[in-house]
Amino acid sequence: MKDKTPVLELQDIDMSFGPIDVLHEISLKVQEGEVLCLLGDNGAGKSTLIKILCGVYKPIRGAILMDGSQVEFNRPRDAADRGIATVHQFGGTFPLMSIGRSFFVGVEPTKKWGPFTFFDRKKANEIAVKAIQDFGITRIDDGNRLIGGLSGGERQSLAIARAVHFGARVLILDEPTAALGVKQAAHVLRIVNEAKRRGLAVVFITHQVLHAMAVGDHFAVLIRGGIAADFRKGDKTREEITDLMAGGETTEDLEIEFAIRDGPVEGRPHSAAP
Ligand SMILES: Nc1ncnc2c1ncn2[C@@H]1O[C@H](COP(=O)(O)OP(=O)(O)O)[C@@H](O)[C@H]1O
Ligand SMILES: [Mg+2]
Repeated sequence: MKDKTPVLELQDIDMSFGPIDVLHEISLKVQEGEVLCLLGDNGAGKSTLIKILCGVYKPIRGAILMDGSQVEFNRPRDAADRGIATVHQFGGTFPLMSIGRSFFVGVEPTKKWGPFTFFDRKKANEIAVKAIQDFGITRIDDGNRLIGGLSGGERQSLAIARAVHFGARVLILDEPTAALGVKQAAHVLRIVNEAKRRGLAVVFITHQVLHAMAVGDHFAVLIRGGIAADFRKGDKTREEITDLMAGGETTEDLEIEFAIRDGPVEGRPHSAAP
């Protein structure tokens, strides 16, 4: 297993915007049927890294490999054509569009009638609902429902099911559970596990350690643009991961820091009332 060629690999990626260095020497790999969790606080460089993976930015140095061969992404289309699908925080769908319609945006099944070509709504709905239900999202049974009527978790799940249906090999999830309540987050995490079971290589970006631990096989912690730690499931406890994300300061250090800060404020003498 360990020697399998990774589906996706980054080698020594550097990225900067003008004089601002955002990523340095990022090396990561993810295999099929594996979830790589990318953990990091705000500003660590997670979104920039995702944009490199999905062809929005070109890194200034380093290589991207797929199945062991170097690839070049000059535009998002190049990454998509190689089976890299990115699901953004809100599922990236359109609230006023029906489920069936949004499922096929860009890949509409058409039926011919004389010289005209129509979007086949009935067929689209059937295929979309089946794909979604196969993924374990059984509450969606009508493709005519509007995306806007779905919960945040259902939208995320729908976007994941859609990517898998259309043959994605690498699924990049940017903070898919950040805005969700506990039950909805659990639902999305189940869908992530299902995508993994189906053999996708998943890159799961989050700052929620428990969510990462629920699905991750492999973890990388990004701090100020560098990989501060890289470890496998079971190697570290929740507390250790949380401490790593805090940039080497332990939770205990932070508590002490705040206790010190709070002290003088509470003890500050009040100016006498006039
Ligand atoms: N287009 C850009 N130009 C200049 N600086 C940027 C740009 N995009 C991101 N940055 C900077 O890079 C750092 C990492 O940002 P980002 O990748 O969005 O982090 P994260 O997603 O982990 O919160 C931040 O300091 C941010 O200000
Ligand atoms: Mg971000």
